Amino acid sequence: MCGIVGYIGNKPAVDILINGLHQLEYRGYDSAGVALQCEDKINIYKAEGKLENLSSELTLHKREFENATMGIGHIRWATHGAPTVINAHPHTCNCGSLVIVHNGIIENHKELKALLEKKGAKFRSQTDTETVAHLIAYKYEQTRNLTEAVRLATKEIEGAYALCVMHKNEKNKLVATKRNAPLLVGVGEGEYFVASDVPATIPYTKKAMYLHDNEIVTLTLNGMKLINPDGIELAQKIETLPWEPVALSKMGYKHFMLKEIHEQPDVIRNILVGKLHCAEENISLNEVKLTKDTLKELNRIQIIACGTSLHAAMVGKYIIENFCGIAVDVEASSEYIYRKTVTDSKTLVIGVSQSGETADTLTAIKQSKAKGSHILIITNRPDSAMAREADSLLSVNAGIEVSVAATKSYIAQLVSFYLLALYMAEIKGSLDNATLQSIKTDLMIVPQKIEQILSNKESIQQCARHYANTKDFIYIARGINYPTALEGALKLKEISYINATGYPAGELKHGPIAMLDESMPVLSILMKGSVYEKLLSNSEEAKARNARMIALTNSKDEKLKELFEFIIEVPDIQELLSPIIAIIPLQLIAYYISEYLGKDVDQPRNLAKSVTVE
Ligand code: AGP
Repeated sequence: MCGIVGYIGNKPAVDILINGLHQLEYRGYDSAGVALQCEDKINIYKAEGKLENLSSELTLHKREFENATMGIGHIRWATHGAPTVINAHPHTCNCGSLVIVHNGIIENHKELKALLEKKGAKFRSQTDTETVAHLIAYKYEQTRNLTEAVRLATKEIEGAYALCVMHKNEKNKLVATKRNAPLLVGVGEGEYFVASDVPATIPYTKKAMYLHDNEIVTLTLNGMKLINPDGIELAQKIETLPWEPVALSKMGYKHFMLKEIHEQPDVIRNILVGKLHCAEENISLNEVKLTKDTLKELNRIQIIACGTSLHAAMVGKYIIENFCGIAVDVEASSEYIYRKTVTDSKTLVIGVSQSGETADTLTAIKQSKAKGSHILIITNRPDSAMAREADSLLSVNAGIEVSVAATKSYIAQLVSFYLLALYMAEIKGSLDNATLQSIKTDLMIVPQKIEQILSNKESIQQCARHYANTKDFIYIARGINYPTALEGALKLKEISYINATGYPAGELKHGPIAMLDESMPVLSILMKGSVYEKLLSNSEEAKARNARMIALTNSKDEKLKELFEFIIEVPDIQELLSPIIAIIPLQLIAYYISEYLGKDVDQPRNLAKSVTVE
């Protein structure tokens, strides 16, 4: 949510800022703006809506900033105040000398505003951010030093922030800081890039320094200086990032989502490297820092997550209980944090998050940590806030996921849960050898099976087009694939805006069946195994109410043709691994419907890739 960029160097700043903001678009936004250091003042340009609107605005004024080599930029996802030009960042003090961009929420903004108004601050927007602009400007009047002004101001701010600040009187200087919001500095040759995330810096440099909470960095053409909140200089921790710029291109695919769906076989292969060598050897998971004795004695696990990660957690619960016989609770982080939870040092708490920045999950993790639980984090971002809270860190290594709709990170989370469950089962001795080996053998060939589905995607595309104009969609499943139904429905909902719902099929007759008629598509995730026959009966019940039946199945039963108007066949797989296979066609159905309807596949309305507000 929201994205910050900053640049100081010798190149035209506007191009770098706009390009950087484009790379952060996946975070979700509804207005944008940039500030550029010009001859004797700082010029600000803003626009509602997409970055194209800001670019048009900039084109009208390009003579004003053609020599600017320093600036800051922002995409805003509205929280305090509507997505208007006035509320868009950058924000300034009364006279426009001090300019800031901000990501996060200033919790004490009302109190600060009241104080600052008494001192003469004139507020123009409804944002919490403007308070910070006035506060830093006030400190600047006292100190005449931008870094010091930022340092003093941040001592009075409560809440989460990543800030990038410039001042008309301090030419060629950017100051940036953060608390509970991501921010890094890309380090180039005689130039620096500030950004909320790596995609904005990686096209220019692989060298970067992640800021830690409360650190303040000052960037000039002569170098950078890092200090702590007491003003003490700190050593700089510049690292070489493992990301390749190519990972951020669509590589010929029409959308990032389609590219990311196709990356899934390799994502799985990547995760298995070094952890699962062959069926006869034990899983190697050095990332888990619990001793074997503690693992053996664990009798309770809680998994907390949101959205797609929550669905991965539900599959995780199923397999950990099945493989290890340990009771597992799964809960949405947003619910978990507002009730009295029974958690202690004997509970393993697992947080699952693609971004590692989701505010609800982060809060939930911190609460459990304070109660003494061991925290295991499954994330795609080992550089994230959640990763820093981890006692054990399982990095899923799916590569940067640009599309807002999570696909490859979901698969990576699922596979991580399989490895974890197998690892614990081996330590506990809770699964017999034959079962262990068969799961491991089949897990290793899952990538080929996904490739088979992807090479036959035209039939899925055909199915998607057939149902693209529906207003509602129901997904049914039972057992281990109930989360698959939820995830399939979430994918469709978020990128096509069709009202899609996932149900445990046995629940249909307790209410949802009332909605069925000849206009309602019902997709049945009919994977062979313990609940196949039951689900077939539930599908018959739906068919009897004239629903438009679709099967997603690995069964070759000819009789299915009488019951279903569309059958999506997937390669055979044992039931316990079937969620990894069954989700692929559902991702594709959501993708093709969204694309067919002409929706914004990669950046669906109202959504943000990383949800940093509770
Ligand atoms: C996934 O398609 C969604 N965009 C969303 O539900 C997401 O999974 C959720 O916001 C959690 O994000 P996280 O995994 O980064 O914590």
